[in-house]
Amino acid sequence: MHPKRATTIAHELIEATLSSGEVAIDATVGNGHDTLFLAQQVGDQGKVYGFDIQADAIASARKRLTEADLLHRVSLLHESHTEIRQHCVTPVAVVMFNLGYLPGGDLSQITQSSSTLPALEAALEVLRQGGILTCCCYPGHSGGLEEAEAVLSWAKSLDQALFQAEAYNEKGRHEGRPFLVSVQRC
Ligand SMILES: C[S@@+](CC[C@H](N)C(=O)[O-])C[C@H]1O[C@@H](n2cnc3c(N)ncnc32)[C@H](O)[C@@H]1O
Repeated sequence: MHPKRATTIAHELIEATLSSGEVAIDATVGNGHDTLFLAQQVGDQGKVYGFDIQADAIASARKRLTEADLLHRVSLLHESHTEIRQHCVTPVAVVMFNLGYLPGGDLSQITQSSSTLPALEAALEVLRQGGILTCCCYPGHSGGLEEAEAVLSWAKSLDQALFQAEAYNEKGRHEGRPFLVSVQRC
């Protein structure tokens, strides 16, 4: 039997946590698939903040959300996810990270541990009690394994009295297989 995809597990964890009317963050908007997923969950009283450093990604996500008639639920920010605290209303129920590069986009605009780790820390600061952070890691591309290992070490180093960290499918990382790290605020 094939293990569940990291992105599928992330969506299941989020569906179990995020309620209508709450705030969610997509820290890596890309083509906006996850932003759309979050916008569908939060309802008209909720809010989604989406961050990406690529203008093309923001434009692509804006088109997707407009077509779904859900753009009014989302603030798309052409900014690094390190700026989470500067832009988002708190408390936040869910923060999603989907690391790596935008398929078909600028391959130089890849996520980097030097900004990913501070952004993960910032995400934990805004998370409500019971709220969850998910981070899909892609060890298959150049630099991806180092970033994925850094995320795993960071999650393992968190104070277990405050945060419950889990890793899913991480044993396949040395074969380049994607895995998921989740952190829930106790
Ligand atoms: C794997 S893609 C995200 C895919 C997206 N979740 C989707 O549903 O299409 C990773 C994205 O992270 C973005 N990115 C890289 N560094 C970033 C940063 N410091 N802050 C925000 N986004 C960043 C890239 O531009 C790229 O669009």
